[in-house]
Amino acid sequence: MLVHSIKVRPFEKEDRQAVRNICFMTGYMGEPADIYWSDIESFADMWCGYYTDMEPESCFVAEIDGEVVGYSLGCFDSKNAWNPAMIGMKHAFNRGLMFTKGTGPAMWRTLSDVLSDLISKRRLPQKPFLDPRWPSHMHIDILEQGRRMGMGRELVESIKQRFISLGSPGLHLETVLENQNAVKFFRSVGFKDYGEPLELPGIRAKDGSRLHGHVMVMDLK
Ligand SMILES: CC(C)(COP(=O)(O)OP(=O)(O)OC[C@H]1O[C@@H](n2cnc3c(N)ncnc32)[C@H](O)[C@@H]1OP(=O)(O)O)[C@@H](O)C(=O)NCCC(=O)NCCS
Repeated sequence: MLVHSIKVRPFEKEDRQAVRNICFMTGYMGEPADIYWSDIESFADMWCGYYTDMEPESCFVAEIDGEVVGYSLGCFDSKNAWNPAMIGMKHAFNRGLMFTKGTGPAMWRTLSDVLSDLISKRRLPQKPFLDPRWPSHMHIDILEQGRRMGMGRELVESIKQRFISLGSPGLHLETVLENQNAVKFFRSVGFKDYGEPLELPGIRAKDGSRLHGHVMVMDLK
């Protein structure tokens, strides 16, 4: 039987590219993001840019035999985080992503969902979650070969301990309700469901139905 060496450790700047690749490879509820978004640079900037580049001390990685296979990325005060929608728009305008095959359809679908929610439900697009009870937030992703080995639990624990030591009263995350593997994991490591899941613009389930954004919270005091 092969015995692997498994380790969770603080992020180092040399891990940046591996983190960006993992973000893309797990970006559709654990599967590669290219099912709806083919541009790795904009995708990684939207979902990991702030954390690796502005708050690397709140990031951790998981390794198997020295290869980075997962991460948890944290933000102590969510007011500082970059809004992924704004980052996506910047790439769209600077690099013409609205008219590119692998990204255009998702961008136009997002626009059409936002308009139809506004007209038929009188609902504006959901802003990133900000609540002083849970001011810190995190993201976590692990490649398939590293799942169910306990590294997810350890990655969450590392972020928790960092924010407890900095005095944060609470931690939250935003996931997709239909990603039930993740929701069960988050419940099992201490997160609680919060509020009503809301339809997300642009992204779809494989059967074409709309997916729902879901907030989960954890008290740290
Ligand atoms: C969700 C994820 C981070 C969990 O990490 P992990 O290392 O696989 O989880 P762990 O091995 O630490 O599991 C801890 C506990 O969580 C629960 N759990 C984990 N995966 C689960 C699953 N697929 N279904 C049900 N419960 C699960 C179990 O209670 C588990 O304890 P056990 O192994 O003793 O039964 C990982 O599977 C992943 O990266 N998935 C794809 C990307 C993703 O969905 N990220 C979240 C986006 S918001």
